[in-house]
Amino acid sequence: MAARMKHAALALALWMGAFAGACGSSTPPPETAADKNDFDGESSPDEGKATADAEGAKPAKPGKDAEAQEHQEEPAAPAKSTPLQATKFEADLKKIGINLKKIPALEKLPAGQKKKVMPLLQKALGYDTCEGCHVEGDFKKETRNMKVAREMWRNFVAPLRSESGGTLFCDSCHAGNEHVLNRKDKKALQAFMEEEYQNKVSRASKEDMECGTCHGDAMETKIIEKLWNIPK
Ligand code: HEC
Ligand code: HEC
Ligand code: HEC
Repeated sequence: MAARMKHAALALALWMGAFAGACGSSTPPPETAADKNDFDGESSPDEGKATADAEGAKPAKPGKDAEAQEHQEEPAAPAKSTPLQATKFEADLKKIGINLKKIPALEKLPAGQKKKVMPLLQKALGYDTCEGCHVEGDFKKETRNMKVAREMWRNFVAPLRSESGGTLFCDSCHAGNEHVLNRKDKKALQAFMEEEYQNKVSRASKEDMECGTCHGDAMETKIIEKLWNIPK
């Protein structure tokens, strides 16, 4: 009951936020930043911190100039947000020795397990090489995508489960893609969030799943940037 009221209030807040943006309040509409980020992949002036690290964290497409050219027009965001799927890696994770009932933080895994998990991360995100997250020749050098991966693991993979209580891994949401959200249509995105991320995800703690489970009580939509403090 309380959860439902909270949800209604959050939806309303988001809705009003959209209007405030459209009416030209001093805060830019969320669409602006999100679309820019999704569609041109270039830094705007206030994104000046997207440095060599971020470059190194982009999916590598080695020696495919022609192909890259061909796909240049293709936007990073999918036409429709990617629905949840059952993870394909449950058996692999078990074999690696990860306790799926109580998944530790990525950084807490013993070195051997950590190494074996890496190819699964690569496949789940659909990266051609390890350079989707790492800089060439230095797996220790911190990149933006490493930071994001660690937090996705800590905040989603470790405490959340599938609808039936099974493992929710990176590929459950990513399905072989780095970008899984279409943020253009806010109403469609909110419906997607409710149908997929709220209703088809559960918590290891068995507590209710709400928007705030991921977005925080203040319903921060920019989870990566604002809740996890990882700059663009
Ligand atoms: C989705 C992002 C991602 C991808 C893709 C990825 N890694 Fe990693 N990798 C990480 C993160 C995050 C860490 C740091 C974990 C920690 O905090 O201990 C890490 C750590 C490592 C380390 C340990 C470095 C150290 O501190 O000693 C090795 C080795 C490594 N990765 C190898 C690989 C290899 C090989 C691949 C490709 C098969 C790969 N990684 C793909 C995110 C990724
Ligand atoms: C509950 C669903 C969910 C799970 C589980 C999940 N992610 Fe994500 N991830 C997202 C969403 C949503 C985005 C934003 C995608 C977009 O903008 O299209 C995202 C974005 C990312 C990005 C790109 C960040 C950026 O700003 O470009 C990386 C890298 C990433 N996730 C790695 C991982 C890794 C590694 C795992 C597993 C440890 C994981 N994710 C698990 C939902 C999830
Ligand atoms: C399982 C975790 C999870 C749940 C539950 C969840 N979301 Fe999200 N949501 C995400 C992630 C991850 C992103 C991408 C965040 C980012 O880019 O920093 C996102 C993005 C969004 C965005 C787009 C923000 C933007 O500026 O582009 C909206 C709007 C949103 N969610 C609304 C909701 C609503 C409403 C609910 C509840 C019905 C909800 N979400 C439930 C994980 C979740």
